[in-house]
Amino acid sequence: MATKCEISVLFVCLGNICRSPLAGGVLAHRLREAGLSHRVCVDSAGTGAWHVGQRPDARAATVARQNGIELFGHARRVRAEDLLGFELILAMDRSNLKDLTDLASGSGSRAVIKLFREFDPEPNRDPDVPDPYYGGPAGFEHVFEIVDRTCRALVDHLRRDLGA
Ligand code: 4NP
Repeated sequence: MATKCEISVLFVCLGNICRSPLAGGVLAHRLREAGLSHRVCVDSAGTGAWHVGQRPDARAATVARQNGIELFGHARRVRAEDLLGFELILAMDRSNLKDLTDLASGSGSRAVIKLFREFDPEPNRDPDVPDPYYGGPAGFEHVFEIVDRTCRALVDHLRRDLGA
């Protein structure tokens, strides 16, 4: 991970084309708005390899653009170095979390690995960001809402961590 970052955050989902690049793009955008983008690095990856090299799903890019946000990057698979290089690794659902904790066990990783929605301020929230891949645009709009409010809360958390 680039040394300029004081904190580095990695979002992880299954395909790295829907939920995690959406979360990465939204967090990067909200950090820029908060004046913190030079202090926090953001990336995303997937536990599966089916979509490696692809740009984010057009439906995810569309809902982001409708909200003034551009997504970045190409799908890649999470790798062992990520467990060593990122401080905060956020799984989009419990299945992703299980895969990540399996990968991390015995790796020497000191990353905090947890569910993204632990930061969701909504009471009685579901632990998972639902997988919108096999649904329609409404599913992507629902995922955007979850991701955006959770990223806003995450920015507040990071600001406190940075003492900013
Ligand atoms: P993501 O969504 O994990 O949010 O990127 C998916 C993308 C692709 C597939 C499943 C979920 N797939 O089965 O190909």
